[in-house]
Amino acid sequence: MTTERPRPLVAGNWKMNGTRAATKTFAAILEGCDAALRSKVDLLVCPPATLTYVFAVAAVGTPVKVGGQDCHAATHGAHTGDVSATMLADVGASYVIVGHSERRTDHRETDETVKAKARAAIAAGLTPIVCVGETREERDAGRALAVVGAQLAGSMPEEAAREPVVVAYEPVWAIGTGLTPTVADVAEMHGFIRQSLVDRFGAAGRNMRLLYGGSVKPGNARELLGVAEVDGALVGGASLVAEDFLAIARAYME
Ligand code: 13P
Repeated sequence: MTTERPRPLVAGNWKMNGTRAATKTFAAILEGCDAALRSKVDLLVCPPATLTYVFAVAAVGTPVKVGGQDCHAATHGAHTGDVSATMLADVGASYVIVGHSERRTDHRETDETVKAKARAAIAAGLTPIVCVGETREERDAGRALAVVGAQLAGSMPEEAAREPVVVAYEPVWAIGTGLTPTVADVAEMHGFIRQSLVDRFGAAGRNMRLLYGGSVKPGNARELLGVAEVDGALVGGASLVAEDFLAIARAYME
């Protein structure tokens, strides 16, 4: 059995932030991703859909990848306001986040919807980042593992056995709050997620990247990214500041 770890991925989720002026921030991220950093970690930025093409063009010839924040399960059709995985791939995206808690809450996305989106992403040649995570009430009730286990079972597509898929554990109560789980809680959850993925997908489950997300900042990155079975981060607020995003990624250089 190999003990080799997946290559880390530090991904920025810009959410509904950024106009064309933010191209400057992205340029600073591209510039900061020097040879030393790129030798240790993969970097991904997921801007709002309006900036995907602009960022993808700017990133050509650099190691930084660009991704979407959501996609529709269909390739095209009468779905006003939606963006398909095919469209994201067409403008140069290589990843797409699916099932973020803000989508699950604001748009009532179910595990079934998330799985359909992940499948559409794979069919379009994108790597889906499937998000899971419990609420504060669920954790306090001692149900965090059960909730995340059910989300994984329902949201992960069968294709994950042979196609690249990333999983992001984002406790809902840690998103945008400055609160983070303890190292022991992250270790427990990531160990549980890893075991679930290995049970279901075999060797592919062992090699899948498991990101932690929720109030990751330069000041706590080293601690959180150092936890066993944490293969990177999904960063919200701190990814909007180039220096902070790069500082988080540099945790892998220490
Ligand atoms: P924050 O880093 O702002 O807590 O957001 C985390 C997140 O939701 C990333 O997808």
